[in-house]
Amino acid sequence: MADRKTTLLPVDWTGHTPPAELTAVPAHVAIVMDGNGRWANSRGLTRIEGHKAGEKALLDVVAGAIQAGVKHLTVYAFSTENWRRSPEEVRFLMGFNRDVLRGRRDQLHAWNVRMRWAGRKPRLWRSVLKELQTAETLTKHNTGLTLTMCINYGGRGELVDAVQQIAAAAQAGRLDPHRITEKTIGKYLYVPELPDVDLFLRTSGEMRTSNFLMWQSVYAELMFVDTPWPDFNREQLWQALAAFGGRQRRFGGAVDQPAQLPSPPAPQN
Ligand code: FPP
Repeated sequence: MADRKTTLLPVDWTGHTPPAELTAVPAHVAIVMDGNGRWANSRGLTRIEGHKAGEKALLDVVAGAIQAGVKHLTVYAFSTENWRRSPEEVRFLMGFNRDVLRGRRDQLHAWNVRMRWAGRKPRLWRSVLKELQTAETLTKHNTGLTLTMCINYGGRGELVDAVQQIAAAAQAGRLDPHRITEKTIGKYLYVPELPDVDLFLRTSGEMRTSNFLMWQSVYAELMFVDTPWPDFNREQLWQALAAFGGRQRRFGGAVDQPAQLPSPPAPQN
């Protein structure tokens, strides 16, 4: 891996400007950073090389999200199902997440980014958890973009964990089961402050959500792009943001739209 000291500030802020016509910037963008393995294999490289190449894309996309005024960026870095991958890849990914967190936290801190973690503790490497906690503490007063790293995260698992806590609170008499609302469930999620997802983006052409932010994404605009994650960058993020601006969101509330009928022919004398 490259020397992290020399790569501390590799992102060029000059010469890249979000398009002026970005109208409705989503407050919360969630990204499934997919395609590292296929990107690498198609070049005769190992999947591990693909993940390494994904780090640059992540930093560039964070920079682009800050520039565009996105408030929350949430990325899927390791799912509760990813333990099914080969032991070598799992080992690499745990170490890689730890190194990315350790190597990039000062840079992200300098960018006024607040870092959060969403996921389950059991099975997660202690060294990864430690880096996540250090990054959260270091950046907790930052007021810019909130970057939530989903590591050992699964949407169903998040709901199961919330339900367990809610049931325990009810059993202990701290919660009336009849007063459980959507708001109550939201309070027991891993990061209760995380708002609903506005734009859910997955790279690399797969069109599924793979257990990512189920609860938070019910009204998200879904976008699937063919670019593999290592080739994704801030310009492509901005293209996605521009496409988001053209989407019509209704949240269940539909109204009649005036028909676009052709004008009647002018009367003949
Ligand atoms: C879900 O697809 C995708 C993920 C959980 C993303 C995994 C991302 C990495 C391993 C790269 C992390 C990169 C950085 C820069 C930290 P899936 O393959 O788990 O789901 P599927 O089997 O449904 O396709």
